[in-house]
Amino acid sequence: MKLWIMLSLGMLCLELQNGSCQQLKKRKDIGDNRIRPGSKRVKLRYPIVKEGAVKGQSLLTQVLDKGRLIRLGQTTTTNPGKPFELRCKGNAIGWSYPTYLDTYNDSRLSIKHSDKYSQLTLISPSAADTGAYSCWVILCDGTECDRDQDRTYVSYIYFTDNDNLFVPSAIHFEIVYLRPNQPAVVPCRVTNPRAKVSLHREVPPEEIETNNTLVTYDPTKGFVLQNPSKKHQGVFYCKAETSGTSQISTKYQLLYVEVPKGPPYVSLKVSPEFVRGGDNINVTCAVLGEPEEDVNFSWIYPGQDQRPVHTHTSWRLVKRGTGHTTRMSKSILTIEDMETIDFGKYICKAKNSHGETIVVTNIISKN
Ligand SMILES: *[C@@H]1O[C@H](CO)[C@@H](O)[C@H](O)[C@H]1NC(C)=O
Ligand SMILES: *[C@@H]1O[C@H](CO)[C@@H](O)[C@H](O)[C@H]1NC(C)=O
Ligand SMILES: *[C@@H]1O[C@H](CO)[C@@H](O)[C@H](O)[C@H]1NC(C)=O
Ligand SMILES: *[C@@H]1O[C@H](CO)[C@@H](O)[C@H](O)[C@H]1NC(C)=O
Repeated sequence: MKLWIMLSLGMLCLELQNGSCQQLKKRKDIGDNRIRPGSKRVKLRYPIVKEGAVKGQSLLTQVLDKGRLIRLGQTTTTNPGKPFELRCKGNAIGWSYPTYLDTYNDSRLSIKHSDKYSQLTLISPSAADTGAYSCWVILCDGTECDRDQDRTYVSYIYFTDNDNLFVPSAIHFEIVYLRPNQPAVVPCRVTNPRAKVSLHREVPPEEIETNNTLVTYDPTKGFVLQNPSKKHQGVFYCKAETSGTSQISTKYQLLYVEVPKGPPYVSLKVSPEFVRGGDNINVTCAVLGEPEEDVNFSWIYPGQDQRPVHTHTSWRLVKRGTGHTTRMSKSILTIEDMETIDFGKYICKAKNSHGETIVVTNIISKN
C-alpha cells in the first residue's frame, strides 16, 4: 500500500510543472558544498589522507568549551545539540557550508569577522547540517579578490544522531537520473561514518551488491553507480546499521535517460492553423531534451518592439516509452488581435549548453 502511494507521488511530480520539480532539483544540491563568493565547488578528497600533511597545517579549527581550539582534519564527527563554532585564522576569510543553510536562509547560521579570525556559528545544529564546511584566505590584488587555493581548508562534519542515521531530507521521494557513461549517485548520506550501509531495490526485493568497482559507497555522497544502465531503474532505498539500530532512508526513483547531447531539437507550431486578421494566436516553440538541461528561448517576429506580445515559458518532465524521461520545454508567444504588421516570419531561437537551434515559421494571412 505504502509503496503505491510513494510511487504515485513520484509520478505525480513527473507530471507537475516547473515549480515543484525545480524544488526537487534544489533538494539534490543539498549535499553539495558551495563556495561563496564565485560559486566554485571544492572537491573533497577521499579516501582520507593524513591530516594537514597536504598543504601545511589547517587554519580551520573548532571552538570547544572554554574557548579551547582544535584543528580539524578532513572529517569531523560531533554531536548535534550544542552550538557549533568554527574559526578560521586570517583577516580576510571566505566560507562555504551545505547549500541548504542558504536555500532556507537559515538564521541559525552566522558569520563574524574580526582582525585575526573569522568565526562561523551554527546554533543548535542537527543531523541535517551534516556536510562539508570550508574556509579560505581571500587574496586581493587591487580590487580583484580571489580564493587562495593553497590556503583553503575543508572538513566534512558529521552531526551524528542515532535517531537520524541518514541525513534527513525534506522530500520523501527523490528522483535520480541515470545516464549512459556517467556515474550516478543515490544520495543517502549518513550522519555516522561508521554506519554499515546497504542499497536495496524495492520490487523485487533485492540487495544491490557493492564492490569496489561498479557500485561503491561514500558516506559523504551516497551510493555511486559507476556505469548505470537500464537495469538499475526502479525504486530503491538505503539501509543503515550501527550497533543496536537499523534505519531505512527515503525512497529513490532511479530513471534512465538516454538523450543524445547536442543543440536542442525544436518544433515550432502555430495555433490556429489558419490565421486571419483579428485572430488571437499562439506560436509554440517546443524542445525535447535531457531532464536537467535548461533551455533558453528568444523570439524574433514582425511586430517586435511595436506591439505588446506575451511570452510564456515553462517546462515539465514527460515519460516516453519504457523508462525514458525527457524534459519538454516550451515558449509560447501569444498575439491578440492579429494586425497586418503581425504577419510574416516568426523565428524561435532555443539554446541549451550544447548549442543553439533556430527555427522559422511564416504566418500568412488567410483573408
Ligand atoms: C535572509 O535573511 C536576511 C537577514 O536575516 C534578510 O535580510 C533577507 O531578506 C533574507 N532573504 C530571504 C530570501 O528571505
Ligand atoms: C562488481 O559487481 C559487478 C556487478 O554485480 C560485477 O559485474 C563485477 O565483476 C564486480 N567486480 C568485482 C571486482 O567483484
Ligand atoms: C493559446 O494558449 C492559451 C494558454 O495556453 C490558451 O488558453 C488559448 O486557448 C490558446 N489559443 C489558441 C488560439 O490556441
Ligand atoms: C539561460 O539564461 C540564463 C539567464 O539569462 C543564463 O544564466 C543561462 O546560462 C542560460 N542558459 C543557456 C543554456 O544558455
